[in-house]
Amino acid sequence: MKVIIFLVTFITFFVAFGCAIPRHASCNLDWNVGVDCKTAGQKIVDQMKKWNNTDCGTGEKCRYALTSYDGATLKGKHTTPVKHYVDDLVMMFKAAGNGCAIHGFSSSETWYAVLDYSTNYCNLHNIITGSGLDFKETTSDDICTQYSSANCEKY
Ligand SMILES: *[C@@H]1O[C@H](CO)[C@@H](O)[C@H](O)[C@H]1NC(C)=O
Repeated sequence: MKVIIFLVTFITFFVAFGCAIPRHASCNLDWNVGVDCKTAGQKIVDQMKKWNNTDCGTGEKCRYALTSYDGATLKGKHTTPVKHYVDDLVMMFKAAGNGCAIHGFSSSETWYAVLDYSTNYCNLHNIITGSGLDFKETTSDDICTQYSSANCEKY
């Protein structure tokens, strides 16, 4: 009996505590665009190649690296200009009516990064804004670290 009470208490605390700790810094979001996935993917690829440089100005619109793109999944990396933290990016493209539904995910390689000054959000948001695609974005603070306090124009 004591063992069971102990276990129940332990599990309750674990669940309660686990929910209270912010998860590892990352961002999940969804975009809907009015063009087909091939066009959208190409624009994003082009933008990542354009920002594959170290000329960052005062922003984060630089230091992108395309790892792979096969028409359905795009993988890449973004390095923050000042601290050189590396974030992994994944985008998945799926046809939706006449347009395309894109799921974006960015996560910090640094395991201890909990609050990320919205960089995971901005990694994704800046690239689609830069690409010139007309998009509708859906996300929230629960699934995208510091989304609502993001300022993607500076670092
Ligand atoms: C540019 O892309 C290459 C290949 O993906 C990568 O190795 C390199 O680090 C990138 N350069 C910058 C400045 O991010």
